[in-house]
Amino acid sequence: MSEQTSSKVDFSKYFQPPSLKDARRRRRQAVQIINDFSIPEDMAAIGRGKQYLIETYGCQMNEHDTEVMAGILEKMGYHETDDPKLADVILINTCAIRENAENKVFGHIGTLKTLKLEKPGLILGVCGCMAQEEVVVNKILAKHPQVDLIFGTHNIHRLPQLLKEALFSKEMVVEVWSKEGDIVENLPQSRRGHFQAWVNIMYGCDKFCTYCIVPYTRGKERSRHPEEIVQEVRELARQGYKEITLLGQNVNAYGKDLPDLENYGLGNLMDEIRQIGIPRVRFTTSHPKDFDDHLIEVLAKGGNLCEHIHLPVQSGSSDILKIMGRGYTRERYLELFHKIKDAVPNASFTTDIIVGFPNETDEQFEETLSLVRECEFDGGFTFIYSPRAGTPAARMKDNIPMDVKKERLQRLNKLMDEFSAKSNAKYQDQTVEVLVEGESRKNPEVLSGHTRTNKVVNFRGPKSLIGELVKVKITNAKMWSLNGEWQEETQGVR
Ligand code: SAH
Ligand code: SF4
Ligand code: F3S
Repeated sequence: MSEQTSSKVDFSKYFQPPSLKDARRRRRQAVQIINDFSIPEDMAAIGRGKQYLIETYGCQMNEHDTEVMAGILEKMGYHETDDPKLADVILINTCAIRENAENKVFGHIGTLKTLKLEKPGLILGVCGCMAQEEVVVNKILAKHPQVDLIFGTHNIHRLPQLLKEALFSKEMVVEVWSKEGDIVENLPQSRRGHFQAWVNIMYGCDKFCTYCIVPYTRGKERSRHPEEIVQEVRELARQGYKEITLLGQNVNAYGKDLPDLENYGLGNLMDEIRQIGIPRVRFTTSHPKDFDDHLIEVLAKGGNLCEHIHLPVQSGSSDILKIMGRGYTRERYLELFHKIKDAVPNASFTTDIIVGFPNETDEQFEETLSLVRECEFDGGFTFIYSPRAGTPAARMKDNIPMDVKKERLQRLNKLMDEFSAKSNAKYQDQTVEVLVEGESRKNPEVLSGHTRTNKVVNFRGPKSLIGELVKVKITNAKMWSLNGEWQEETQGVR
């Protein structure tokens, strides 16, 4: 462990701060596919008899990155533990999307100081999206010398080398590449789920919504080759996985950057995956701007493609959408929404909404409420706008007081809840297919899972059903979940 301060680290060598100008230029650069991941010989058994713990914040992308880091650590002999006191390596995989997400992480890093004092050999690492931010790295260097290692989202494949440096060097090891990102194939993965799996189809984001940090923390949009994806999904099917979720920040832009495939998009990919024997296929996150007709046609074919669309709208006001840089108007969103709804009957829709964007007027907020009334969303995530350093919106002067923003959020949540209850009520007395994911969090006697439309269903049944697709008759539709009875005689029938 070092008493390192920023002045002793040759910072410029490892860290390239995010820059909007550079990021915009990056689209023209070619993506490199790296296929030669390996673990240095002297690190191959370094983890024998040792344990690791990874704490994950943020979105599914981070959850999946954690699976990759776990895979790498296990290849070096480490075993997983859920007890921080027993861990020899603790990695905190962070999220930078809003300020409160960051505050949580800093609070947590603070509490790990005592652990580090008790066990000086412990390696404490900070990675994920916060590590891509210069302010965060500087703050850790200045205030949290208990941290041994900081690495960015583009440096995950270098974990063995970085861990080696951290183990044998006296200085805090910092490696954050702001280069726009390559695609590293063939990384080990230690999947957390045995019947549900994440599959990355693309990385990064080029949308540059004016409030959002992701294009800076995750690099430019780059698609994995369909052959790699199809091969991974086939392997998951062979292993008996029941559900996969195709992942990307803006999955509808899939394929646009693939040089050897013209006009190959998410619709084409889903059409291929539709023919693989895996019972459920989901995808997230959709961006309304790039959601094309071909994808709608393919989704309408049903089969293993689940009827749930997460379609973040962010605001119901065209003026706000414009300042957010979303690339669609309220009318375009509604047109797309209805087109999908017509093509995919029974589809459920969820969304993301930001309230209190700089200078959002009462009228503009009312437009968001009226859009929610028109769409009657099944559910969604709602947020108060949080300025992110380096993004264009963070430089906008904002005249809306926080208590007004909080009140808007409450009103919006109340409305969203009403529609959640209304959409759930439609399931009363219906029999639905549920993928049984485990015991319910509140009551271990009760099993819990999701419908194809992504509704939570709780019911009683033997534990042997975990991991199975079963039929459940809904007996009590509540606001956020459905209670039901297992229809034993139809077990296994889809
Ligand atoms: N790629 C996805 C969103 C990923 S971030 C998409 O474009 O839909 C998840 C959600 O966080 C966003 O949809 C947005 O609603 C919210 N979000 C992002 N940046 C935010 C910020 N600065 N303040 C508040 N909410 C934000
Ligand atoms: Fe952020 Fe917009 Fe990209 Fe989504 S599409 S990750 S909100 S910049
Ligand atoms: Fe957070 Fe990074 Fe995901 S900022 S939402 S973990 S891409």
